[in-house]
Amino acid sequence: MQLLVFGALLACASVVAAGIPDKIYGVNLGSWLVLESWMLPQEWLNMGGQQCDDCSQCIATEFAFAQAYPKTVDQIFNKHWSTWFTQDDVNQIKAAGMNTVRIPLGYWLVEALVDRQTEFFPRGGILQLRRGLQQLKAAGIQAILDHHALPGVQTAGQMFTGRCTSDVEFYTDYNYHRALVWTAVMAAITHLHPDFGSVFSIEAVNEEIMDATQTAGYGDSVQMNFVKTVRAVELALGIPVPGAKLSADIATSNFTEAISIAANSSTGDIFTPDVKAALLDAASILVEVSLQLEMGSDLSTLLHSKEPLVTSFMDINWQFNNPANPAAAAIGPQGYDNHLYYSFGGVADANPDAYMTSICNLDRVQADAALGNSPLWFGEWGLPTQFNATDAFLFQWADAQKLAYSQGKGWIFWNFKVEDSALAGDLGRQWYVVLTLTH
Ligand SMILES: *[C@@H]1O[C@H](CO)[C@@H](O)[C@H](O)[C@H]1NC(C)=O
Ligand SMILES: *[C@@H]1O[C@H](CO)[C@@H](O)[C@H](O)[C@H]1NC(C)=O
Ligand SMILES: *[C@@H]1O[C@H](CO)[C@@H](O)[C@H](O)[C@H]1NC(C)=O
Repeated sequence: MQLLVFGALLACASVVAAGIPDKIYGVNLGSWLVLESWMLPQEWLNMGGQQCDDCSQCIATEFAFAQAYPKTVDQIFNKHWSTWFTQDDVNQIKAAGMNTVRIPLGYWLVEALVDRQTEFFPRGGILQLRRGLQQLKAAGIQAILDHHALPGVQTAGQMFTGRCTSDVEFYTDYNYHRALVWTAVMAAITHLHPDFGSVFSIEAVNEEIMDATQTAGYGDSVQMNFVKTVRAVELALGIPVPGAKLSADIATSNFTEAISIAANSSTGDIFTPDVKAALLDAASILVEVSLQLEMGSDLSTLLHSKEPLVTSFMDINWQFNNPANPAAAAIGPQGYDNHLYYSFGGVADANPDAYMTSICNLDRVQADAALGNSPLWFGEWGLPTQFNATDAFLFQWADAQKLAYSQGKGWIFWNFKVEDSALAGDLGRQWYVVLTLTH
């Protein structure tokens, strides 16, 4: 069975404006462009996938699937993308009063970044992203583009990285570069493609390893360079960045050329060697992507807003062992994301009273603010528990979490749906909300 937990206490319908919503009420579009087979077990089997206890040992992820079915993977995934998230879903999200979606994306969405000798992923997702964003924008729902599955895999043994493996290679110069190229491509399209007009933020990395001793160079090589890459693209496109300007005039209205010229000719703090290298690679990839998205190349007609993007990161307290502070990377508007799932343990004792006591005394918003990590939103949370909860408890549990997270910038539920099937069983009770308007 599914629960109706949303409805009350939600914002009135808002028109899309660039910039961060006053309060975020949202859902994740999980398992759409990064498929996690546990969330749709029957569809996954129907597609040709497999289920196993150790997800690295069978066809349980996009990577394994694309490797097993090189000829049909694009077509099979295209069907998934067009049926898992539809206009009907947009309507339900809207009707429930949501103003935001967080969209998990893989690096393979930028197809030129994939080394097809060793890496296997479906092609064509970016066209579906454009389609979905067009529908969301029309409904007045704002979006966060979340780099959810990073090149080289950012954490071991997780379907959400697109590949279950213990071989974690993200924390290397090669993959940091690819992540920056992805960032530059997405930042440019976001500012230029009309269908991307409701995107207000790009999130650098979803759920990096929590132990900061295992994420070498993350502060400088990812956090600092991520922000600089976004701002460098903005400068190249003619969007003002506080305290920075281009060293050269850009006398072209071809946006890919503008990005190359900016990369080649600019000096100053924003244009580090890593950022310049990312911009040059992104510029040539963008020539292809702009064809793929049929958007043309004329900067003066395409640029739809001079509002800067909100750069966002997992918050500093996501990590332990002396992590870098993402607040130190900020240039212009920035936001912070924390995820909280009680069901994985370590948060509260496994009983209803302990859960309520814990959530009612949650101090994460204040603890983050003390370190400059504000505004903070809770970009993932859900209703799963370590005990057999009653329906009555789950309603209270949802309300208490919404209240706690609203002390910050707001919340984004995981997930907008999971499969409703015999194989999925009771999954929907804790991971899926039927988005029904009750006010
Ligand atoms: C824009 O510049 C790129 C090089 O960055 C070039 O490949 C492309 O053909 C140019 N587009 C047009 C329409 O001139
Ligand atoms: C930028 O520099 C690269 C590498 O030196 C060169 O290949 C490219 O043509 C330059 N692009 C522009 C627009 O100056
Ligand atoms: C929850 O209920 C199921 C089915 O009734 C049972 O098998 C399971 O042991 C219970 N789990 C806990 C933690 O009580």
